[in-house]
Amino acid sequence: MAKSKSKFVCQNCGYVSPKYLGRCPNCGAWNQMVEEVEHAESAKATPSRRTSDLDSKPIKINDVSFQKEPRVKTDLSELNRVLGGGIVPGSLVLIGGDPGIGKSTLLTQVAGQLQKTGGKVLYVSGEESASQIKMRADRLDVHGDELYIYPQTDMSYIRDTINSMNPDYLIIDSIQTMDEPEISSAVGSISQVREVTSELMNIAKQQNITVFVVGHVTKGGAIAGPKILEHMVDTVLYFEGDTHHSYRILRSVKNRFGSTNEIGIFEMQTKGLVEVANPSEIFLEERLKDANGSAVVVSMEGTRPILVEIQSLITPTIFGNAKRTATGLDHNRVSVIMAVLEKRGNLMLQNQDAYLKSTGGVKLDEPAIDLALAMAIASSYKNIGIPATDCFVGEVGLTGEVRRVNRIDQRVNEAEKLGFQRIFVPKNNLGDWTKNNKIQIIGVSTVLEAMNKIFN
Ligand code: TYD
Ligand code: MG
Repeated sequence: MAKSKSKFVCQNCGYVSPKYLGRCPNCGAWNQMVEEVEHAESAKATPSRRTSDLDSKPIKINDVSFQKEPRVKTDLSELNRVLGGGIVPGSLVLIGGDPGIGKSTLLTQVAGQLQKTGGKVLYVSGEESASQIKMRADRLDVHGDELYIYPQTDMSYIRDTINSMNPDYLIIDSIQTMDEPEISSAVGSISQVREVTSELMNIAKQQNITVFVVGHVTKGGAIAGPKILEHMVDTVLYFEGDTHHSYRILRSVKNRFGSTNEIGIFEMQTKGLVEVANPSEIFLEERLKDANGSAVVVSMEGTRPILVEIQSLITPTIFGNAKRTATGLDHNRVSVIMAVLEKRGNLMLQNQDAYLKSTGGVKLDEPAIDLALAMAIASSYKNIGIPATDCFVGEVGLTGEVRRVNRIDQRVNEAEKLGFQRIFVPKNNLGDWTKNNKIQIIGVSTVLEAMNKIFN
C-alpha cells in the first residue's frame, strides 16, 4: 500500500516542516502551519521532463525571431495602460485586492468588453452564484452572447469545460476558492493555490487563452499564498484604495509585457468603475487656498506624474510622548523628515504631535515627496500658509540637503499644465533639461534654504 506522508506548510511563506510548529521559523508568522498530506506514489509518478524538451536547443540571440505580441485593447484605457498597452493574448494576469474593492466588478466589465471585440469569455466564479453575477452584470450593463457564467470550484470540471468550449478569455474569481481534487490539502491552502495557478498557466500558454485570476490578499496586503505565485504569473496587478473613498487605484507590480509601477485610476460609481482621466485635478480639488500645513507634491506614479496634496497638523503634545500619525505616507519617512527639520531646520518638533496625510486616499511612497512633506510640516508648525500655486519635488537627505530626483521635466510640465506658478526643485536637477517653461522654477539645495524662500 502506498504510504502517505504528512507535512506542515506555512501558509504565509511556504516553509515546510515535518512537524507542527506554532511559529514559522522562516517568516515568524504565528499559527500559519497547516497539515498537508502528500501521497508517496504520486510524488514518484512525476513524469520526466526530458522527452518534451528534446527539440529545445540554445540559440544565438541574433537568430531569435519574434513578433511583437499583438494587444487587445479594452475600452478602459486606464487598464490598457497598466497592462502595458493592452491585453497580451495567452498571458496570465493576477489581480489582488481587499474584499469589496471592486475586483469582480472590474473583471465583469472587462469580460463584457472583451466579448464585444469578438472573443468568447468564460467567467468562472467560486464565490457567487450565476444569478448574483447576472445581477451585477445587469447593473453594469454587461450582456452578450459570448459571455458565459460558470459557478464552479472543481478544477477537473473547469478543465473539461475549457476543452469543450475553447474560450479566448478565462476569468477565475478567485484562485483561493478553486479546488484541484488530486491535491488532498484544503481549498485555499498553499499547495492548492500553487497547483491551480500552475495549471492555469499551462492552460494559458498551451491553448493561448488569456487568463485573469482574482487573488485574495492577506491582512498585510500581499496576495495570499507564497510569493512564488507572483513569480509564476506574467502580470500582477493590485487594486487598492480605501472603501470609504470612491477612488480606486490599479497598480501593476509585475509585468512581463510592460513597465511596472504603472497606475490606473478609477472611480466606483453606481454603474460600475469609471476611469479618471485627470487624477491630479481630483486630488487637488478640495484644497483650501493658502491653508497652513498643506503642500503639493508632484509624485511619479509609474510613468505618470500626479499632483497630490500632503497635509500636516502640528499641535503641542499635552501629555506623555509626542504622537506621530501618518495616513498614506510611510511612517518612517515622516519620522526621518521630522528629525531632519528639528536638527537642520531648527524647528522644535520633539514636543509636538504630528498628524500627516496624503489626500484622496493615495499612497505616496517615493523619496521625491520629502521636500513637500517637510514644507507641509514646517508650514503647520510656523502657522504660515504656502501659496496655493506653489509645488515641490525633492528628496531630503539626513544632513538637510535636497537631493536630485528622476524625471524632473515631466514633473515640471505636469505642474505647469495644472496652472501652478512656482515649483521648488533640487538645485542639482536644474541642469537636467532645457527649460522653456512658463512656470517659475526655483532650485534649492537645503531644506533650510527652501524654508527661507517660502516663509520669509
Ligand atoms: P466587488 O467587485 O464585488 O468587489 P470584490 O470582488 O473585490 O470583492 O465590488 C463590491 C463593491 O462595489 C460593493 O461594495 C458595491 C460596489 N459597487 C458599486 O458601487 N457599483 C457597482 O456598480 C457595483 C457592481 C459594485
Ligand atoms: Mg469578488
